[in-house]
Amino acid sequence: MARMKHYVIANWKMYLSAQKSVATFKQLLRWEKTHKWNKNLEVVVAPPLIALPEIAALLRKARSSQIRLCAQDIGFAEEGAFTGGIAPRDVKRLGVQYALVGHSERRQYFSEDTGLCRRKAVAARAGGLKVVYCVGETKDERHAGRVHDVVREQLAGVKADVVAYEPRWAIGTGIPIAPGEAETVHAFIAHEAAGKPAVCYGGSVSPENVMQFVALEDTAGVLVGSASTTLKSLCSIISKVDKRS
Ligand code: PGA
Repeated sequence: MARMKHYVIANWKMYLSAQKSVATFKQLLRWEKTHKWNKNLEVVVAPPLIALPEIAALLRKARSSQIRLCAQDIGFAEEGAFTGGIAPRDVKRLGVQYALVGHSERRQYFSEDTGLCRRKAVAARAGGLKVVYCVGETKDERHAGRVHDVVREQLAGVKADVVAYEPRWAIGTGIPIAPGEAETVHAFIAHEAAGKPAVCYGGSVSPENVMQFVALEDTAGVLVGSASTTLKSLCSIISKVDKRS
């Protein structure tokens, strides 16, 4: 049986300036040259969109086989009168392979609902991008015992290549979910999602706790926010997941 592919997905959000993103990415490329990773491991970096063209050019030049790029957001249509929109085909043309859809910060601060996420996922795939789709409940929804209902609703009609389970209350708080609880939801996602996506965990992943998550059943890796924004902790996470891949 083929070994499961593993992922470290680094979401730099709006933490790093475009300039700092480029500098950090250069350091990552240099680090990659001196560290051979397992072929099953893909490191997917989602820099701020404004830095993507420059970073994509660096990646093309470096001919890295294991670092991939991801757009933090994507337009829901191919082209047209959509001010501020990002055409998937333009992202693809840069050599970017993934688009992030449904991140809880997009849902919360940009009022994106699952209907819009569905359209974004369709547009991304039609434009030749793979979709990393985020799902996850709020604290209240968890307390009300609604985790599976919420995740089921978020998954409905969305075809993704990677589904990241990110309980909203665990994002950016330094307090991840208990691994056993993540495992239950990962199994649910593996059963419920269309097209057998890889399932990753996200929410306060750090070099200290990452192994607890990648050791879980039905878990192909991690989506990391703040701990991915410094080279030291990103590389530490990559090295640890590499041992498992
Ligand atoms: P965090 O963010 O690792 O900073 O909690 C994760 C995410 O939002 O994807």
